[in-house]
Amino acid sequence: MKQTAHAPIGMLNGKVAVITGAGQGIGRACADVFVREGARVLAVDFSGNQDKVARELGPGVVPFHADVSKEEEIKAMFAAALDAFGRIDASLHVAGTQGGRDGAIEFTMDEYELMTATNLRGVMFCSQYAAKAMVPTGGGSIVNFTSVAGINGEQLAPLPYTAAKAGVHMVSKVLAIDYARQGVRVNVIAPGFTLTEMMQDATPELLAHMGAKSAIGRPALASEQAEVAAFLASDRASYVTGTVIPVDGGWTARVA
Ligand SMILES: NC(=O)c1ccc[n+]([C@@H]2O[C@H](COP(=O)([O-])OP(=O)(O)OC[C@H]3O[C@@H](n4cnc5c(N)ncnc54)[C@H](O)[C@@H]3O)[C@@H](O)[C@H]2O)c1
Repeated sequence: MKQTAHAPIGMLNGKVAVITGAGQGIGRACADVFVREGARVLAVDFSGNQDKVARELGPGVVPFHADVSKEEEIKAMFAAALDAFGRIDASLHVAGTQGGRDGAIEFTMDEYELMTATNLRGVMFCSQYAAKAMVPTGGGSIVNFTSVAGINGEQLAPLPYTAAKAGVHMVSKVLAIDYARQGVRVNVIAPGFTLTEMMQDATPELLAHMGAKSAIGRPALASEQAEVAAFLASDRASYVTGTVIPVDGGWTARVA
């Protein structure tokens, strides 16, 4: 049979994505993979690294400075994406903060506020504004990033962090139901231990201990989270909504 050569088609060709936390780590890896797959990206962060990411990834990436714990800045972020690209097909809410004392069961109100402002309130408002921005152009895909520590108890994670991540699971399910008939899908990626800058202060012992928690026996690469996000943002995931997908090498499959 005669073979026909086809140019490779990116899984996200023609799509526009907002990515929060794009300055480093998993968010940065998402920007890399989304550009590789043909998407244009609004790369959002408050660190300043978003400018470097845009320079490195080329003209399809527009940097935007926003603190996603603040409603006015979230509004401005989606307005900037619509201004730059005219539509939003995917919105990845990756920005998050660990911030607290590892393993803290007791915590202060300030620590609670710190870990809730971005991880829960920020993701909730980003999801709400993203859904509203997607409806006029036929819908889109929202991907919220939480943690395995939002699914099962992990004593090394601060309690307000795990509570915030678990809250995002419910935010995502409710919005998935609310917006399903308007073409907006909402899903969660719950990463297991992933090698990123967030872990740069961890001791070698802690890194080995955390890596061994997955059944696969090693930490994830940030790109392994990003590949799942690209699938969820693509039309290949057209019947996937309201899910929480652990990308954890089998960590949460264990009884203990
Ligand atoms: N790395 C892991 O092992 C791991 C495990 C489970 C869950 N997660 C989750 O995955 C997500 C990404 O983690 P990471 O390891 O890439 O983190 P990271 O700390 O390496 O990067 C987070 C990025 O988000 C930005 N950011 C934080 N708060 C922000 C805010 N309010 N507004 C705008 N930008 C903000 C930071 O500047 C940074 O660039 C987080 O939600 C985290 O909780 C990570």
